[in-house]
Amino acid sequence: MSTDRIRIRTATSEDLDTLSELIAASYATLRESGYETQALEAAMPKMSRANPDLLSSGTYFVAEVDGVPAGCGGWTTAKPGTGEIVDGVAHIRHFATHPRFVRMGIARLLLDRCLAEAHATGARLMKSQSTLSGERFYAAAGFRRIGEVEVEFAPGIILPAIEMERALP
Ligand SMILES: CC(C)(COP(=O)(O)OP(=O)(O)OC[C@H]1O[C@@H](n2cnc3c(N)ncnc32)[C@H](O)[C@@H]1OP(=O)(O)O)[C@@H](O)C(=O)NCCC(=O)NCCS
Repeated sequence: MSTDRIRIRTATSEDLDTLSELIAASYATLRESGYETQALEAAMPKMSRANPDLLSSGTYFVAEVDGVPAGCGGWTTAKPGTGEIVDGVAHIRHFATHPRFVRMGIARLLLDRCLAEAHATGARLMKSQSTLSGERFYAAAGFRRIGEVEVEFAPGIILPAIEMERALP
């Protein structure tokens, strides 16, 4: 597919329902990616819903193909979970491509937007807490694996993730 058909725009709070549907469809594919079933199902309600704070952050984006929402993702200076801010460090947040639109370069376009914006605001390092199946996507974009971490999605609900990072630009 030509990337000319993909338009990226900033998300707003009005995208909550549409992006929650998109993220739920995308994260449903994680059921085939080696997670412990009980932990994944416990995390799914929170993990697969669009995050209102991200939607109103101004640094979360929607990719549309011919006007149809096909992917989303963004970045923040605040570390997911803790909110910690470290000078020069930015974090990738909540990337998802709808299963109908995978491997068309949509997440890569979103990622390029995030990397460029974060760099323009002074970040020199981009970090990502990748899903187990997302690792190859980030690796293809120049991220290196730091190691496996445990992410707490809600009190007591913990899933493994891969901590990754790449220098900016
Ligand atoms: C990870 C995810 C966002 C990638 O989205 P995508 O739009 O399909 O990614 P792209 O088409 O931009 O992929 C760019 C490159 O990354 C690599 N890549 C992406 N998905 C891959 C996969 N499943 N296996 C191997 N490499 C992959 C490839 O090099 C690809 O280029 P190519 O298709 O020309 O070979 C998508 O698979 C997804 O939503 N997964 C479920 C949710 C999730 O894990 N999100 C990540 C949260 S951290």
